[in-house]
Amino acid sequence: MLEYRNDLLHLDGHSLAELARAVPTPFYAYGLPTLRERARAFQEAFPGALIAFALKANRHPVVLHTLARMGLAADVVSLGEWDAAIAAGFPTERLVVNGNAKEQALLERAVAAGAHSINLDALEEIPRLVAAARSTGRTARVALRINPGLDVRTHPHLRVASAGSQFGLPPEQVLEAARMVQDAPELELVGIHLHPGSQLLEEQDWQAVAGAARSWVLRLREGGFPVHVVNWGGGLGITYTEAPDPTPFDLARVYTAAVADLDVAQVLEPGRWIVARAGVMVTRVVQAKEAWGRRFVAVDAGMNALLRPVLFGPVHRVWPVVRSASEEVPTTVVGPNCNSGDVLSPDALLPRDLKSGDLLAVLDVGAYGAVMANGYNARPLPREVVVG
Ligand code: LLP
Repeated sequence: MLEYRNDLLHLDGHSLAELARAVPTPFYAYGLPTLRERARAFQEAFPGALIAFALKANRHPVVLHTLARMGLAADVVSLGEWDAAIAAGFPTERLVVNGNAKEQALLERAVAAGAHSINLDALEEIPRLVAAARSTGRTARVALRINPGLDVRTHPHLRVASAGSQFGLPPEQVLEAARMVQDAPELELVGIHLHPGSQLLEEQDWQAVAGAARSWVLRLREGGFPVHVVNWGGGLGITYTEAPDPTPFDLARVYTAAVADLDVAQVLEPGRWIVARAGVMVTRVVQAKEAWGRRFVAVDAGMNALLRPVLFGPVHRVWPVVRSASEEVPTTVVGPNCNSGDVLSPDALLPRDLKSGDLLAVLDVGAYGAVMANGYNARPLPREVVVG
């Protein structure tokens, strides 16, 4: 939880100003109590389901270890994420493997270790899986990643189960894929996977996903194929504002109801909902300027440290770490990178007396924050710290 105590911003009870005395800015801070609370909500909303945290959202070792200890599973898309999950203590049989371009070495590792399931993205992946199974002497557990062509409401780059997207099997290839997997003695067909996209906030969209998944379970079973697992992927969004987020319980009312009579095990791959609200980025004001009738505040973290505003729009709130009595004025918070798109917030309300050396917090960056930081302009990667 983020709150001001005596005008100092605290994350889960820890003063960010105090942290900034020990850690050079910019840095990410993650609050374990918030993380645990959000992970627990998923576990309680979907009892008995495999909750596979999507490592692409955050792969800090302590974050991962915390989730592994709570009994979560993990969703990985690369050998690097596989290794991070193993190092954090996720058991191999709780690893779910995704991706539209999985390395052969990842397939081999996953099959050899007995991963929970590998989500098949293309017909062409089948011979690669067969080869991985042969080379390791193990059977590969395969779920069909179906792209039903849904137009869910989210940013176009985050819509991954729509017509024209590069992910998953288009409807006309699903039965063929099922037949090919079924016919390969090295492969075991376990079910379906349907990740609709990310940052979904509306029940109407979850209903569309649920309807599509249910109808595919029935179609596959009519065709004589086994479906034991329905993997819903991730996608539950957050508001990025003070407005309450939709909850996993809201999602469960739709998803669990859609498969209640089908005798399937549910798998979910949440990333953003679990970890976004647990993270803030602390950055320091380098200098302020008045220009073009605006007030600009330039800070030491921009698109190098947090890429999301450039990619998806400036949704992240920016708050002062130390609240002052000075009047709040509309302020454009910009990063240090030589690119006019490097804007963290176009219109944050910030104290007029903000000056060089003052600290700002960028909110809700626990997901897709540090993992997408980069070395643009030869700046060092931001540090990450955990408070518990
Ligand atoms: N499963 C699969 C197969 C996925 O592709 C993703 C996210 C997830 C699960 C987790 O989705 P979540 O619960 O976090 O929505 N870089 C973007 C987000 C890309 C998400 C890609 N896939 C951002 O900064 O918003």
